[in-house]
Amino acid sequence: MKFVIANWKMNFAISQEFDQFFRAMSSELRKIENTQFKQVKIIFAPSFVWLDYLKKFFQKKENKLNSFNFELSAQNCFWEDRGSFTGEISPLVIKNIGCQYVILGHSERRIYLGETSEMINKKILKTFSVGLQPILCISVEERNLFKSNKEIYLQLKKILQGINKDDLKKIIFVYEPTWAISSFGGDTCTVEKAEQGILLTMQSISKIYPEIDIKKLKFLYGGNVDKQNADAFLKNLNINGVLVGKASLNPQELAKIIQTAIKYKL
Ligand code: PGA
Repeated sequence: MKFVIANWKMNFAISQEFDQFFRAMSSELRKIENTQFKQVKIIFAPSFVWLDYLKKFFQKKENKLNSFNFELSAQNCFWEDRGSFTGEISPLVIKNIGCQYVILGHSERRIYLGETSEMINKKILKTFSVGLQPILCISVEERNLFKSNKEIYLQLKKILQGINKDDLKKIIFVYEPTWAISSFGGDTCTVEKAEQGILLTMQSISKIYPEIDIKKLKFLYGGNVDKQNADAFLKNLNINGVLVGKASLNPQELAKIIQTAIKYKL
């Protein structure tokens, strides 16, 4: 099954925007058969304040969204589940709201907020203890694939510190070259490069966990995916799905990407 993750970042300012968005997206999606939606995992990551609202919005009968099987993810969380941490969000609260996933290590957080691999490691460990599944961004700055090998390995070594192999299988890895993300310029990352980056990520994980069956883990690509290039990424057998930022704010465009993902059930 392919994954489509809509990372909405700090967008959507009032609830009516969701009504408009889902009305437009679902009318596009309804052109295909309902049963096919079980063949793709669609995860929305709104900002924290909308998680509870959207959970209820999906369940409301009059919104007619039950057949779509939408899931929710937070965009971040803290590494403790309660205490004196002003402004932080508890993973336990995210879980209690009804979310199953949390994005961790996104490059916008690393670059704008100084989030380190050590912090991401603590957050991941906490998510397991409350029953959340991390969507881990492998944020790669190096453009040269050969040289990026070291960056990927060192990052993963720190981030995966202390994680046992059963928990490792719960992580959804997203290979994200920073320079390909639209907010940092959005340079083209070809499918070949994305695949190579994912293979390097797999190699690093195999080095850290020699006994793991790498084929059992999930590897996605993120960075300027849109309705034009989605087909190429999604048809690749080593890419289990896409994390979409900017293009996921356009309901028709996201619907097209989802329709493409349905074609390539894995
Ligand atoms: P983008 O964002 O699709 O706008 O490049 C990707 C991301 O959030 O990682």
